[in-house]
Amino acid sequence: MSNRTFTMIKPDATKNGHTGAILQMINAAGFRIVGMKMTWLSKEKAGEFYAVHAARPFYGELVDFMSSGPITAAILEKDNAVEDFRKLIGATNPAEAADGTIRKLFATSIGENAVHGSDSNENALIEGDFFFSKLEQF
Ligand code: CMP
Repeated sequence: MSNRTFTMIKPDATKNGHTGAILQMINAAGFRIVGMKMTWLSKEKAGEFYAVHAARPFYGELVDFMSSGPITAAILEKDNAVEDFRKLIGATNPAEAADGTIRKLFATSIGENAVHGSDSNENALIEGDFFFSKLEQF
């Protein structure tokens, strides 16, 4: 399963109407969507998803933002998915993101940064399973 990663199109990108353009870039980069849903995280669920950051000063802000509107969650498949997807989205801070990356094009700040991408194969599995049952992963 090391050929899979997990992504969310965050509330800022959803609200700004970028969902279609971001999915288009994901497909054009060679990723296959093997699970996808639009949903709205409660504060509790957003806090659970980002529990690894609970001690960080930005945690409260992150949970508030991630529960502020609808998101699109997806599992993506491609050789070397985790690393290649992180290249496609660019640095966490859009000011540092390379030209042509999803965050350079669509993110507005380090907090409201348009998309999430898993940082390891292990987390890709955990994060995918957080949103999708086995029956929803193809
Ligand atoms: P993401 O890749 O979803 O993983 C953790 C998120 O925390 C990250 O994207 C950012 O949206 C957010 N984040 C990281 N650093 C900061 C920061 N300094 N201030 C606010 N949010 C941050």
